[in-house]
Amino acid sequence: MIATESVVQETKAAAADKSLISPRFYVTDYKKMNALRFDHMADAFKAMHKRFADDPNKHFFKRDDDPDFDQDFSHLPKSFKDFLIRGCIGEFSGALLYKEIADRIDDPILSDTYRLMARDEGRHSGFIRLALRDISADLDLQLLQGEKEFVSMHPKLILYTTYLSEVIGYFRYINIYSHLEAHPEHRYHPIFKYFGGWCQDELKHGDFIGLQLEAQKNLYLNGGVNRLLIRFFSLAVYVTMWLRDLKAQDFYASIGLDWRAYDLKVIRETNAYAQRVFGFRLDVDNPKFIRILDRMAERYARMMEREAAGAGKAALVPIQMALTADYLRLFAMKVRTDAPPPIPDYPVTPVVKGLSVKQKGQPATV
Ligand SMILES: [Fe+2]
Ligand SMILES: [Fe+2]
Repeated sequence: MIATESVVQETKAAAADKSLISPRFYVTDYKKMNALRFDHMADAFKAMHKRFADDPNKHFFKRDDDPDFDQDFSHLPKSFKDFLIRGCIGEFSGALLYKEIADRIDDPILSDTYRLMARDEGRHSGFIRLALRDISADLDLQLLQGEKEFVSMHPKLILYTTYLSEVIGYFRYINIYSHLEAHPEHRYHPIFKYFGGWCQDELKHGDFIGLQLEAQKNLYLNGGVNRLLIRFFSLAVYVTMWLRDLKAQDFYASIGLDWRAYDLKVIRETNAYAQRVFGFRLDVDNPKFIRILDRMAERYARMMEREAAGAGKAALVPIQMALTADYLRLFAMKVRTDAPPPIPDYPVTPVVKGLSVKQKGQPATV
């Protein structure tokens, strides 16, 4: 039995967390979005819509016939609960944004694809909520929707951010999945078995948003200003994940992962994958890039320590300024346009309904 009081408290705490690294809720300018033209790539969008409508994961997110869920999970670490809460909010935030776009965008094919994408994210957040209930926790998503602040962004920035979030989401899920396939002794909850099929949805989402960016090549991809914006937003997505995972390192340790190695791998693969849309990539393998990231992690850890010790806002300003300077140093680094490093071909074995065919993780990098 889950105490309603604690669900409300947990939800309000999640809604009130406005720190840089907490998941956000977004809206965009639909008038500007409807001014964009997609008809010159109508066939590609129809094919993409079919990929969504075919829905290979229709029966995937069902737990009824998986006996692994019939266990006592009350002993699981608190870091797992925090991981689920962050994941649930992130998935739910996607569901809200995509549903809103589906309702307001004029192009019927794009609108329906957004609707199907909102369906996927709704399924994902619902599936995480069931895992939260396994550990006697929950989130009130309606309450969260009412309490959380919405950030409005230009469609271009929404497309950059959601594209990167979906692709990084894919690499986050697939890397946890393949690590736990190799080390099942750390798989303390069956939700991790589902990350293999689950992340195929995220990759499909990323490809749909990437296609919209390609359809706006001149407006959104070409030119110096766009390239600067892409660099800025790519970095924002990588650094946000980096600091958030530093904070959540107990969770990664609990499943036998070193958060730093995991993050560097996810950043490297996301960065290589995104090059096919952006046409360039950040130089994330440069030792200087990694050195600055490590320094940011040290500074951020120090900031958290001081905060925990009750330091006032003014006392944290020097560290925040140093973090900003580090960010700008990363931003100033040269980008690369040579061939990206190869992305591993992740095999995924479906875990439910008795299927055992190997699926390809993602198309090969160009
Ligand atoms: Fe999702
Ligand atoms: Fe997604």
